[in-house]
Amino acid sequence: MKNSLCTMVDHADRIRAEIDERASGGAPRSFPRTVAAINPDGFRVTVTDVVAETASAKTFRFERAGQVRLLPPFLAGQYVSLHIGGTTRPFAISSSPAQRAWYDITVRRVPGGRISNHLIDRVGAGDTLTMTGPSGTFHHNPLFHGSEVVFLAGGSGVAPAMSMLREIVDQRIDRRFHLVYGCRSDSDVIFREELDELAERSPNIEVDYVITDPGPDWRGPTGLLSAEVVESLTGPLRGRMVYVCGPQALYSYALDQLTGAGHPRNRIRFEANGAPADVTAQSRWPAGVDPSGEVTVSVGAHEFRTPRNRPLLDALEAEGIRPNASCRSGECGQCRIRVLGGEIYNADEARLRMSDEWFGYTHSCVGYPLTDTRLQL
Ligand code: FES
Repeated sequence: MKNSLCTMVDHADRIRAEIDERASGGAPRSFPRTVAAINPDGFRVTVTDVVAETASAKTFRFERAGQVRLLPPFLAGQYVSLHIGGTTRPFAISSSPAQRAWYDITVRRVPGGRISNHLIDRVGAGDTLTMTGPSGTFHHNPLFHGSEVVFLAGGSGVAPAMSMLREIVDQRIDRRFHLVYGCRSDSDVIFREELDELAERSPNIEVDYVITDPGPDWRGPTGLLSAEVVESLTGPLRGRMVYVCGPQALYSYALDQLTGAGHPRNRIRFEANGAPADVTAQSRWPAGVDPSGEVTVSVGAHEFRTPRNRPLLDALEAEGIRPNASCRSGECGQCRIRVLGGEIYNADEARLRMSDEWFGYTHSCVGYPLTDTRLQL
């Protein structure tokens, strides 16, 4: 096995030996241990630096606590999950995958954002947390996505774009990358200095800011990220892969705009971004069912009441029951739980495997109990 990429992974020699052993019919007893070492379920990390990016956003640098110093490898665009305040939240990595001594995550204060605001207000250098990951499918695949990328970002949705841009520069990747970054005001732009510098020194990188509520000194483009505004900056989108990451409202807007302008749906990629803000707005939500009406959920002998429009994962956590969870967006399957009885609404975001449906599993982060429900964790 001669793929040079393998040398980037810890214990590469041992992994190659195990694969050779498997190929020759041996029985590698240490294989599961090796997989766990490369992509552990959870590991301790220490905050080693905090940078105030704007009045409402901070970047946290995490290094691995304990004797193993290197963090697991990741692909630019992926996220990690932080265990905090009795729950977990995914945060996109904004640092470059070219180094593994630290991960940066960039967090913006959001109204009612319990965990984001807790991080910004309460977590500082020296604090130690548990982290899971990295994971996620919002990364570039050169084979399918090509070498011409447009990235539409809103707010802290610029974080995965930053990781991709840093990788392009660090690894000297031959890819054209045009970031169109929408913010309410120019003082909300995160990474402004570095983005301008990257665009200045790399001919393949272009960056534009679009401001919805400009001050008197703003001379750049204004308004929302409409197809017209985007194409006036990037040129025709035809043939290019468009990434979208930002607040949920950006997703439906960008989808309407881009497809309305004739851009094919399979050339638009969205980062997973939480449970739907209003699940009852989905076309499959059953007519006549009161979303705020309560049902009884039981897990073994534990019973509790919860409204129908609350994701099961949130309801379970509020009861002190903590299933595994990572993306909280229906994508990763970590929060899969079995439904023994009752009717569940699986939101459009739920990427259920066929076997999940056959055997009665739901992704609890985007599963809603329509009737009294019995669960098995
Ligand atoms: S946490 Fe990823 S699917 Fe629910």
